[in-house]
Amino acid sequence: MANHILVAVAWPYANADIHVGNIVGAYLPADIFARYHRLAGNRVLMVSGTDAHGTPITVRADAERTSPHDVYLRFHRRFLELFQRFGLTYDLFTTTHTQNHFRVAQDIFSALDANGFLYRQEEAQWYAPAEKRFLPDRYVEGECYICHYPNARGDQCDNCGNLLDSTRLISPRARGGGAELELRPTEHFYLDLARLNPRLKEYLGRDKEHWRPNVLAPSLHTVESGELRGRAITRDLDWGIPVPVDGWSGKCLYVWFEAVIGYLSASIEWSANRGQPEAWKDWWYEPEARTFYFIGKDNIPFHAVIWPAELLGTERLYDERPERRLNLPYDVPANEFLNLEGQKISGSRNWAVWGLDVLERYDPDPLRYYLTAVMPETRDSEWEWADFVRRNNDELVATWGNLANRVLSFTHRHFDGIVPDPGSLTDVDRELLGLVESGFGKVGGFLEAVRLRDALGEAFALARAVNVYLERAPWYSVIATDRATAARTVYTALRAIDSLKVLLAPFLPFTSEELQVVFGYDRPLFGEQRLETYHEDDWEHEALIYEPGTGSGTWAPSRLEPGRRLNPSRPLFRKLEPEVAEAEVQRLRESSAPQD
Ligand code: MF3
Ligand code: ZN
Repeated sequence: MANHILVAVAWPYANADIHVGNIVGAYLPADIFARYHRLAGNRVLMVSGTDAHGTPITVRADAERTSPHDVYLRFHRRFLELFQRFGLTYDLFTTTHTQNHFRVAQDIFSALDANGFLYRQEEAQWYAPAEKRFLPDRYVEGECYICHYPNARGDQCDNCGNLLDSTRLISPRARGGGAELELRPTEHFYLDLARLNPRLKEYLGRDKEHWRPNVLAPSLHTVESGELRGRAITRDLDWGIPVPVDGWSGKCLYVWFEAVIGYLSASIEWSANRGQPEAWKDWWYEPEARTFYFIGKDNIPFHAVIWPAELLGTERLYDERPERRLNLPYDVPANEFLNLEGQKISGSRNWAVWGLDVLERYDPDPLRYYLTAVMPETRDSEWEWADFVRRNNDELVATWGNLANRVLSFTHRHFDGIVPDPGSLTDVDRELLGLVESGFGKVGGFLEAVRLRDALGEAFALARAVNVYLERAPWYSVIATDRATAARTVYTALRAIDSLKVLLAPFLPFTSEELQVVFGYDRPLFGEQRLETYHEDDWEHEALIYEPGTGSGTWAPSRLEPGRRLNPSRPLFRKLEPEVAEAEVQRLRESSAPQD
């Protein structure tokens, strides 16, 4: 049986557009990983959606004097468009604003309650008398009581990344100034993390050698320090999922508590949409299934501690068998941050490269190439426009695009577009093909370990080896005098390129698919993405879905046979003028607000 791989991808908040920092942090690595596993013949389920609730959305709605629902819908639609154009192949990209998600989130809440992992407590919460309402943590700012960063948010410190207790903030103030604050008692449900701590410790303490140290170390510290205390999982807020308890109207489930449940609810929704309502269980209950969570580093505590705690406390859902347990995250390969031209990306200052905007000027594959090459897997990294242009020209075009283009056009010009018969291969030819074949194991190994930069580097090293082979081999100069020798070289190079096309496909899916056509295969490497509208009673939502094609199992060396007819080809990538970088930096500086 094929392996089941769950690719769980961070859910973007519906309060702002998506920039390259978000893309490189979670969405692109997830897609590369999912595409690889599909090519390798595994059963992939890649799910995510729009994080529709919580104060990030209400803050924006307040500022625009519109409704949270309008804000959510506007950004959700833009996410769908961006992901489609960028080639992010979610099996389902849905939203937390669905009837299905409400039901699953409420059922998990009730299961945790029934299992004794929730308690009610009255606690002081910041209250704004002028507005006659409790202020959610996000509306409160102050000095972090851990690292003393002056502008920490009530829920989490952007500087040290720790989750905070907003009532302990030093010099608290209302976001945006103005309202005076006082602490008032309010009742909430709490997730009993102290009671879950032993289970969490056991989970995080075992078989985690493959976890990135920047994810494992802080998470282990949290469960070993004995500091883990109950966390409120309801809020005084009306935009969100109602607390499924009588007498609790006007309060909602805390957005972080319910958004992570989206991984499960989206899997259930995907199954229902396909008319196989039990299918999700292959990923959520089978012990051999592997679940990977692609997130940015600011999301680590929620995915490595809180979400496992919810799963451990729920134990099982929609399954009667007493021995069944929901699968815990197998890996949480969180990325660090991407900076832009020497500064932190900031959406509010407009110091950002926006996904939809940059796609107006560049094709998705060069962007995917650059973002993978600088992916912040182990430490923060940098987007620099000059580096983008250089890597596009010197690496993508020079090493790979020109290689494919030269050999393909030579074949069209001198062999009528037909793969020539090589006669018998020499040691040099065989050595090259053997080297490229070994790439399937090596690149695949890096991909499986979520070392995507290394995987791409390895594939490009092979492309360079083909270039070196062609520099030394006789083909160009002997085409008129020794056609047989030229044919042998061209055959070898074509076969190597046909393999490289597959090795690079997870990273460069659009151009690899083009080459798949050029090489005359009738089955595409990948399936199709499309938009779909779903109805549940009075509810309606748009989602992005992926229909897997027939490309499964094509992660294998080319067996290109002589005599095959190639289709016409065109250059895969275009060179960029150096002035492009200057113009982009200029544009960035002119449209952004100064740093504070
Ligand atoms: N919307 C949040 C963020 O963008 C959380 C994403 S992951 C989730 O940081 F699973 F919790 F939704
Ligand atoms: Zn801090």
